[in-house]
Amino acid sequence: MSSTEDIRRRIEELRSELNRHNHNYYVLNAPEISDKEFDMLLKELESLEAEHPEFDDPYSPTKRVGSDLSKGFEQVVHERRMLSLGNTYSVEEVDEFVGRCREALPGEDVTIVGEMKFDGTSISLLYEDGRLVRAVTRGDGERGDVVTDNVITIRSIPLQLSGSGWPRRFEIRGEIVLPWKAFERLNQERAFNEEPLFANPRNAASGTLKMQNSAEVARRGLDAWFYYLLGDELPFDNHYDNMMAARSWGFKVSDAMTRLHSIDEVDRYISYWDTARKELPVATDGLVFKVNSLRQQLNLGFTAKSPRWAIAYKFQAERALTPLRFVSFEVGRTGVITPVANLEPVLLSGTIVKRASLHNEDIIRQLDIHEHDHLYVEKGGEIIPKITGVDLDARTVGALPVSFVKVCPACSTPLVRVEGEASWVCPNKYGCRPQIVGRIEHFVGRRMMNIDGIGQETARAMFDAGLISNPADIYSLTETDLLKLDGFGPRSAERVLEGVEQSKSVAFGRVIYALSIPYVGETVAKKLAKSVRDIDTLISMSAEALTEIDDIGPRIAESIVDFFSHQSNREIVERLRQAGLQMASESTQSAGSDRLAGKSIVISGTFTHNSRDRYKEIIEENGGKNVGSISKKTDFILAGDNMGPAKLEKARKLSIPILSEDEFLAMLKSENS
Ligand code: IVH
Repeated sequence: MSSTEDIRRRIEELRSELNRHNHNYYVLNAPEISDKEFDMLLKELESLEAEHPEFDDPYSPTKRVGSDLSKGFEQVVHERRMLSLGNTYSVEEVDEFVGRCREALPGEDVTIVGEMKFDGTSISLLYEDGRLVRAVTRGDGERGDVVTDNVITIRSIPLQLSGSGWPRRFEIRGEIVLPWKAFERLNQERAFNEEPLFANPRNAASGTLKMQNSAEVARRGLDAWFYYLLGDELPFDNHYDNMMAARSWGFKVSDAMTRLHSIDEVDRYISYWDTARKELPVATDGLVFKVNSLRQQLNLGFTAKSPRWAIAYKFQAERALTPLRFVSFEVGRTGVITPVANLEPVLLSGTIVKRASLHNEDIIRQLDIHEHDHLYVEKGGEIIPKITGVDLDARTVGALPVSFVKVCPACSTPLVRVEGEASWVCPNKYGCRPQIVGRIEHFVGRRMMNIDGIGQETARAMFDAGLISNPADIYSLTETDLLKLDGFGPRSAERVLEGVEQSKSVAFGRVIYALSIPYVGETVAKKLAKSVRDIDTLISMSAEALTEIDDIGPRIAESIVDFFSHQSNREIVERLRQAGLQMASESTQSAGSDRLAGKSIVISGTFTHNSRDRYKEIIEENGGKNVGSISKKTDFILAGDNMGPAKLEKARKLSIPILSEDEFLAMLKSENS
């Protein structure tokens, strides 16, 4: 048996080893041990910490996995306001900036520091005695949100500084970014789950930083680069040396940071990074030039909004000029008409662009697009190309302005413009082909009925082959029908039929969402499922009664009433019911069990079979209660991977059973059958 002192020493040894390996891996990109060896050390530390809560430390590397406790963000006032930077797109203006600084400091040498302008979301970290004590977002510059729990999950941020010579108390500012790779992975995942995509890594980074679930933040792979050290006792009298010191304490400081001694060097720096930045693993939107000497910075001072000693040079978004072939008008599932610019194919940031949405009539007017115009297409940090202007010099004499269609391009019904909205809509909801097909595609989608084997293309092929003309027809499909489809064999047919069968157990809320009632999105649908007992109640409700439900306004209520006033919709719903779909909220169904009646259950960790949210639903469907924190009253914990060590310890202390995902599901199954 080792003494408590031995254990404490081992815990400390492990923490400092793990901190060092984190730094090697995330900051220096030079790991010394394998991931597996790292995990083993981490596991050892986790179990020692669990057995010895007296040695708990909120800065332990085990805390980097995040927790799932959700709470709002506290706000604090910044000790020093977080200002922005004056910016320019022109090299001449950067040169003028350098000239101005020199004039204001006659007879002095002025060294300029050139650095990357990272395109993420800014963060201010406070360190005391070498430890991270607080992380705050920029907010409005005066006050920001305290996001320490989320920031702790970013492995490249040191919780405990290494090296020496740091001030007892200082602030460091930097940019939290989502590297391109992690951004692409996240968007792929979101596309797979049919969730809206992030337009660029900046939005993804700021969205992630403000999430309530730090375990999810940990999973997404944020990173951070630092560029500004503030405090009363900084080690050096200049920005560059201070940043190099910060690097030695464990912060990520870009290798691109360099001292420039002439306007010529500044210009060369710009022309080099204008192209080289495309190879960087993170998004950058420009360069920043700062006067190096802190004394000179003080002399130059600030304007109301930004420092006079710094300027941002913004990279020109990548832009191409290409002729417009024609504007097409596309009809969506809800009847909204979207104008699309069809372009002569052009290469832009490595991909060929042929089409770009023009969104609505107002945008066509603002851009004043004429037939055959040459259009500017930009991509910047965005993944979706955007039309930003017209080359007037290239306009052909006599070309007419592009006009918006007056009738539906698919069914020729005159379009209507919804009051207060920018879009034109085809009102022929139940007779317009792309709307009908769009609704079928939506119905089978992953977040709706999730019918395995029927993707968008298959849905369209089935419609074109005359096999289905509405969602209810899907439930009468036979193998013989399916074999008529191009490329369908017995195996793919069987897969579809199985998928159709499985969809019958999809929860009521998703069925409502799948129906494509205008303005009824996923959240509203779930709310409706919770508030109304079953579909018959929903069909019979007046707009007034509907608006009594939380978050249901008159527009949604009227749309629901209108939807069910159509005989054809009521027939589809009836046939879906006959097919066996869930048409009532599960708590009122005999199928839901009371297996978990009266039980308080804590969910912790990350799961593979179902999402956390789904587990919450399952608990409620079976009469249980999902609670946030462990207490004597907790009946058991449903634990996924990476359950927090503090929770683990508490559960052990109170002898509360911990069930794995599989055990939990098996328990429900055995009891329900
Ligand atoms: S210095 C008082 N340096 O750009 C000067 N900012 O437009 C404070 N940014 O809010 C900022 N890279 O979020 C500075 N190397 C860099 C930067 C940088 C990105 C962001 C930062 C700031 C914004 C200003």
